[in-house]
Amino acid sequence: MDRTDFPDDFVWGTATAAYQVEGATRVDGRGASIWDTFTRRPGAIVGGDTGDIADDHYHLFRDDVALIRDLGLDAYRFSIAWPRIQPDGRGASNQAGIDFYRRLAENLLENGITPWATLYHWDLPQTLEDADGWMNRETAYRFADYAGLVAEQLGDVIGNWITLNEPWCSSFLSYAGGDHAPGRHEGTAAARAAHHLLLGHGLGLSAIRAARPEATAGITLNLYSVVPASPSDADVDAARRIDGLANRFFLDPVLRGSYPEDVLDDLGQTDWFAEHAPSDDLALISAPIDFLGINYYSRHTTRAGAPSSRPSANPGSEFVEMVDTGAERTQMGWEIHPDGMIDVLAMAHEIAPELPLYITENGAAYADVVLPDGSIDDTERLAYIHDHIAAGAEAIRQGIPLQGYFVWSLMDNFEWAWGYSRRFGIVHVDYETQKRTPKASAYWLAGMLDGALSAEVMV
Ligand code: FCB
Repeated sequence: MDRTDFPDDFVWGTATAAYQVEGATRVDGRGASIWDTFTRRPGAIVGGDTGDIADDHYHLFRDDVALIRDLGLDAYRFSIAWPRIQPDGRGASNQAGIDFYRRLAENLLENGITPWATLYHWDLPQTLEDADGWMNRETAYRFADYAGLVAEQLGDVIGNWITLNEPWCSSFLSYAGGDHAPGRHEGTAAARAAHHLLLGHGLGLSAIRAARPEATAGITLNLYSVVPASPSDADVDAARRIDGLANRFFLDPVLRGSYPEDVLDDLGQTDWFAEHAPSDDLALISAPIDFLGINYYSRHTTRAGAPSSRPSANPGSEFVEMVDTGAERTQMGWEIHPDGMIDVLAMAHEIAPELPLYITENGAAYADVVLPDGSIDDTERLAYIHDHIAAGAEAIRQGIPLQGYFVWSLMDNFEWAWGYSRRFGIVHVDYETQKRTPKASAYWLAGMLDGALSAEVMV
């Protein structure tokens, strides 16, 4: 497999997110985010880790951009930390924050790499959470102000915008499951946070369009291939519920302009949505996007099991269990199922046949071993990435307009509730010294893309 198996203009990229890599959380006027707060909560993060230093990308970004260039990649998807731009989540922009992202974008452009910026990769300013966060409709308007401000001030150097990353995570996982910041347990009412996030997407999109009519803009959803463990009615219904919460609850409003009624019913939220999610909101949420970003990692096989009383990221469907099919898993415990990437692409393509699709994240965590000579032979990660890229090629053969693939992640980083205990990078990071070492997967990818990294090694 090589680049020639893909269209000439196929975008090869890699992705990171601000809180996971930047560090420098207290410099240049950055305000506190919900992740600064949540990481201080005892027991919230494995090992008590925080993003205070992370990969120090804030200071080392030039080295990281050089790596991206040497990998032969075309694009870098990073996220903008809202509290660097508006420390309190509202008002005028903090110039030092804007300047940082301008330096980054300019450096990317000088190296022939296209910047793709995500506006919200989960680091809500703490002041907005103090006002009820995404449970409060006002937060959607604050997000739109922020999006417009950033597009206005950085739209000359950044042309590709992603409003939200994975709103399922920033609503159900964060406001129902409590696994992610702000760590709340609102149960089925977390669906309201999802609506406010999506409204933020719609309002943000129109703010970006107003500030920069030439911009390319979309949203990134995390989609799963969901299959029932058996043909029994109960297991099929379990799959319907999880597909509903994880996929359709986000795809439908964005691509069809409506929420799936069965899911609102499962959640007991039909009345609230009838009153608080009027057709004007849905018109904003379903306004045309230039592309859909999909993050794909795994498949869920579901069955109806015993009710659980623990706070769940699938509120209202606590009795649904994920079945171990015996298939290989990554260190996250996520089943490896490359064909599922075709399933999720097809899912979106069926609803919106003309819409360009991008895999904006795909990758795997493994317990890497640094060999005595300093190298990291991450054969399993290499195979994971290889097999998913091959699935992408197959999707294109099937007529799906997949236009790009971004590896998660450029380098090991702060993996949210797992702290630094899970490594997703194709580049290893020594957190003591901040030394970056490309792993075998990075050399393989660079070889496929004719990057300078592989050339060096072959000499
Ligand atoms: C996704 C997130 C990303 C990273 C990967 C492993 O859900 O968008 O930040 O943590 O998972």
